[in-house]
Amino acid sequence: MTERVALYPGSFDPPTNGHLDILSRARRLADKVVVAILENDAKTPLFSVSERIEMIREIVGGDGSTPVRSFSGLLVDFAQEVGATLIVRGLRAVSDYEYELQMALMNRRLIPSIETVFLMAKEEYSYVSSRLVKEVAGLGGDVSGLVPESVRRRLVARVASCES
Ligand code: PNS
Repeated sequence: MTERVALYPGSFDPPTNGHLDILSRARRLADKVVVAILENDAKTPLFSVSERIEMIREIVGGDGSTPVRSFSGLLVDFAQEVGATLIVRGLRAVSDYEYELQMALMNRRLIPSIETVFLMAKEEYSYVSSRLVKEVAGLGGDVSGLVPESVRRRLVARVASCES
């Protein structure tokens, strides 16, 4: 039987517990889930791509069924490169829907055989985003429970070094 490979793409700046919840659900749908971090020169991230790769690898461990890679260019091209037939995206509120619909339809137009599937994280993470987590941490708020402890420590250190 051929291995079912899914791609879970995103910015992951930083990875949150919502991302990890989606990842664990995606692992039930595919034999292998490749986490794909976009290399985006247009955005100024808080963490470099290699730091984000390191953070996710620390959390998922050296599990060969969940490789963590970076990519540039078209997502569907990278999906083909890694042999993925599924693209996984998390959906939180209705506000996510329009952007996600556009991306899914554009990706389907580019390569019709790749299917996008949307997964819902646990309700307790439905309001959690990397952007808000960075904002709260940057203003001295407590983000424990919203990101893994290893990410929280890095966040606190990074925002402190940005302030000094
Ligand atoms: O976590 P994000 O920032 O919402 O992830 C967005 C991502 C990386 C999935 C999206 O920006 C993307 O797929 N970029 C790659 C460029 C691409 O393929 N664009 C055309 C498809 S709409």
